[in-house]
Amino acid sequence: MVDFSTIMILVELFLLVFGVQMFSASHLSKINQESYPGYFHWRPHTVVSNFLMCPDACNHNIIFRRNFAGNNVVTCCVKNAQPFWNISKSNLLDVLHLKTTREYWFFEGIDTSAVNVYFKVVYQQGDLKEIPDILCKSKKIVEINFSANQIENIANIDCLHILDTLNLSFNRISSLKNTTFRVLKYLRVLNLSYNKIQYIEPNTFNYRPGSLMKINLNRNLMESIDVTNLLIDYWFDRIDLIGNRISKFTNELSNKFNFSIGGGTINLGHNLISEFPNLPKLGIPIDILLSGVFKYPINIFKNPIKCDCKFGSFIKTIQLAAKHFEGPRIFICKDPPLLREKRLIDINEDLLTCDISMQHRCPPECNCYEQPSRSRVVVNCSSTRKRKIPSVCPQQDDLDIDFSHNFISGFEYHTYLNRTFSINLSNNRITSVDPFIYGIVKLRNINLQHNKILQIHKNVLLMTNDHKISFGRISIKCSCEMKWIESWLENQLRRHGVYNSINCHIRGRNIQASSISEICSFVKPNSTVKYVIFSVVISIFVSLLLCLKMKYELCLLLRNFKRLYLNRFNNNDSVEPIRFDVYISFNAENSNIMKWIKTVVSNLEKNGYKICLPPRDFDVGGVHVDQISTEIANSISYLVILSDDYLKSQFQMIEWNKIWAHYKTNIYRNIVVINYDISDSVNIQDRKLKAFVRLGFTFDFCNFNNKLMNDIELKLRRTEKLQLLT
Ligand SMILES: *[C@@H]1O[C@H](CO)[C@@H](O)[C@H](O)[C@H]1NC(C)=O
Ligand SMILES: *[C@@H]1O[C@H](CO)[C@@H](O)[C@H](O)[C@H]1NC(C)=O
Ligand SMILES: *[C@@H]1O[C@H](CO)[C@@H](O)[C@H](O)[C@H]1NC(C)=O
Ligand SMILES: *[C@@H]1O[C@H](CO)[C@@H](O)[C@H](O)[C@H]1NC(C)=O
Ligand SMILES: *[C@@H]1O[C@H](CO)[C@@H](O)[C@H](O)[C@H]1NC(C)=O
Ligand SMILES: *[C@@H]1O[C@H](CO)[C@@H](O)[C@H](O)[C@H]1NC(C)=O
Ligand SMILES: *[C@@H]1O[C@H](CO)[C@@H](O)[C@H](O)[C@H]1NC(C)=O
Ligand SMILES: *[C@@H]1O[C@H](CO)[C@@H](O)[C@H](O)[C@H]1NC(C)=O
Ligand SMILES: *[C@@H]1O[C@H](CO)[C@@H](O)[C@H](O)[C@H]1NC(C)=O
Ligand SMILES: *[C@@H]1O[C@H](CO)[C@@H](O)[C@H](O)[C@H]1NC(C)=O
Ligand SMILES: *[C@@H]1O[C@H](CO)[C@@H](O)[C@H](O)[C@H]1NC(C)=O
Repeated sequence: MVDFSTIMILVELFLLVFGVQMFSASHLSKINQESYPGYFHWRPHTVVSNFLMCPDACNHNIIFRRNFAGNNVVTCCVKNAQPFWNISKSNLLDVLHLKTTREYWFFEGIDTSAVNVYFKVVYQQGDLKEIPDILCKSKKIVEINFSANQIENIANIDCLHILDTLNLSFNRISSLKNTTFRVLKYLRVLNLSYNKIQYIEPNTFNYRPGSLMKINLNRNLMESIDVTNLLIDYWFDRIDLIGNRISKFTNELSNKFNFSIGGGTINLGHNLISEFPNLPKLGIPIDILLSGVFKYPINIFKNPIKCDCKFGSFIKTIQLAAKHFEGPRIFICKDPPLLREKRLIDINEDLLTCDISMQHRCPPECNCYEQPSRSRVVVNCSSTRKRKIPSVCPQQDDLDIDFSHNFISGFEYHTYLNRTFSINLSNNRITSVDPFIYGIVKLRNINLQHNKILQIHKNVLLMTNDHKISFGRISIKCSCEMKWIESWLENQLRRHGVYNSINCHIRGRNIQASSISEICSFVKPNSTVKYVIFSVVISIFVSLLLCLKMKYELCLLLRNFKRLYLNRFNNNDSVEPIRFDVYISFNAENSNIMKWIKTVVSNLEKNGYKICLPPRDFDVGGVHVDQISTEIANSISYLVILSDDYLKSQFQMIEWNKIWAHYKTNIYRNIVVINYDISDSVNIQDRKLKAFVRLGFTFDFCNFNNKLMNDIELKLRRTEKLQLLT
């Protein structure tokens, strides 16, 4: 017979030998057997360890600090949960003292009879060089304190399946592999402070399934760290890296982060971080930076931070984070000297700049810097005695250039002007501006005050409404071709409040450019002598052109000219009696035109015109050709709708030829052509109509609105006026 105690020992041995799976059940039973007032059993699905008891307070208290960064209970418990043996009233944790003879290791103080007991192993002699294999014999080791020994290698701890706390501070470990801890799924607290760690492989801590929550790597020798070992993708309490030599961050495996799960405090105090890291290179999208700042509060206290332009774009985020966390409030600048010992969050963001050296194309003697707060790169060469405009400038975009107070005499084009939005050239000796410059789309602001500008090129009109140019007070030569300057000046004043006082030298007089038209509008009808000369020139021109068979064009021009002349002298000539004011000639088969014509007719009739609309006004029974002849003869003016299908029928040919014949013989008759299909003159067969289009004596249908109606009416009325004079 086997007695009861033997069975118990066998059971215990069995449990010792057969690993973790069996334990899970027994832990639970232990947790359940005892009640732990003030705690609840905490086991979220992302955490393997089922030893953990979380204070009830975590379920109740809203911890404001992180309340919008994630689950409160989780963030509270990763920080405050404890293994149940630590809070149990009964002693569930036995300390095993590891001892050695020359030949073998043994445990002192093992009490094999206590089934419910877990072990903490300690070794305090200080000469331990490696983890002894004997640890694998006991499957109930949950804590190890091998602090202050000489361990270099920890690759063989993988048998400690339910290890909760590993204290290896003050040892000689120099690197960590990402396979070492992966197997320790219960490991929650890892203390590797005061070792000689220089390198940690990527993805060493962010493994799942696992339970890691507190990592201490203080006072090691790391110069860089991979971001996968900081932005651990699950909830943890903290990772401390105080007192290393970290200045660089790496992302060896080009991971991408989205901060969708997890977070925890990262303490990088007392390192050598000086620059704001290049986030995109580290796989951190800038647009989620804000959520990152809240999920991973980072402390970089006592780092030699260079408060420069790299912080410029993020200062707003950092200031916001500082409202909620201590960390960013104590970012203290080491550089530049001007900002030394200042808190980053107190600095005016305009001061977060990066100087650009001559190697990076800052012109000699100038002051160049990048200023993200104003989205610009300043190139300041003010008062540097330059005689020419520098030929190179920094390669960045958005240059804001100050070349004022120099001796520059010409403003030539350089390619960097395409990257410039503002240039100040005031107080130089500039006489000429390359007209090409006015066409640069990006260049929105040009200051040319206090220079010696002699001319303003018409290209200045290329500067659109949001572009501003100030010439200040200048004196230039003008001609009557510069009448555009009037409205341009007015526009600059109205849009930008830029007052350019431009003095014009014209016809031996000095006037303000804003009143140039007062001089220029009197030019044409000055002396009859000029008029005669003009006519002579014209007639020579006429005969020349006649040879070139521009017969109809000339005819039209001459006629226009004659009418002007008649208009002036009110010559009395005779006209046949009339029945209609306007005869309308168009292709009645084109239904679109037909529709439109109706509005034209009603519009004109409203204005008192008598209209002949052939489809309407011709007698149904009459001879069509005869009626055409009569009514054309009975009308003063002709409205011709020139469409692509006009003149396609024979009747229309006759109609048009009759109109032309009457028009030609009587100076008072008028033809108004509407270019309905906006045909080009080359596409028009009929040479007379072609002449109208070529000379621009037509109205395009495209400006169809009241303006077109008004134009037509005006043109017809002029005829009528002449008529009245007779
Ligand atoms: C156990 O509890 C004590 C006191 O509450 C605490 O200082 C210690 O860190 C705890 N140990 C573990 C492993 O949680
Ligand atoms: C761990 O071991 C070290 C060195 O032996 C000792 O000083 C320290 O008190 C121990 N810590 C704990 C929590 O047991
Ligand atoms: C690790 O050991 C050090 C002493 O060497 C001690 O201060 C610290 O509390 C220990 N940590 C844990 C988690 O036991
Ligand atoms: C780790 O060990 C260091 C040094 O002994 C100690 O100061 C620190 O509190 C420990 N941290 C943790 C999390 O155990
Ligand atoms: C562990 O680190 C090595 C580089 O040292 C890397 O190639 C490997 O992918 C990492 N393993 C994991 C799981 O990330
Ligand atoms: C974030 O990444 C994880 C895995 O890396 C993925 O499961 C999750 O869908 C991602 N979330 C978003 C919002 O992209
Ligand atoms: C350029 O420097 C001068 C003084 O050196 C300063 O007055 C001026 O405002 C600066 N210009 C710009 C655009 O910063
Ligand atoms: C241009 O420089 C002058 C002189 O330095 C200064 O008075 C003026 O305000 C500057 N204008 C612009 C637009 O920068
Ligand atoms: C600079 O801008 C002008 C006008 O916007 C453009 O015609 C020219 O091609 C640009 N030059 C370069 C080098 O981009
Ligand atoms: C026309 O020109 C002559 C000189 O050619 C000049 O004397 C006269 O004043 C001018 N007339 C007008 C109205 O400008
Ligand atoms: C035009 O002729 C009419 C009579 O035929 C006459 O009364 C009128 O004065 C003439 N007008 C002019 C400007 O000669």
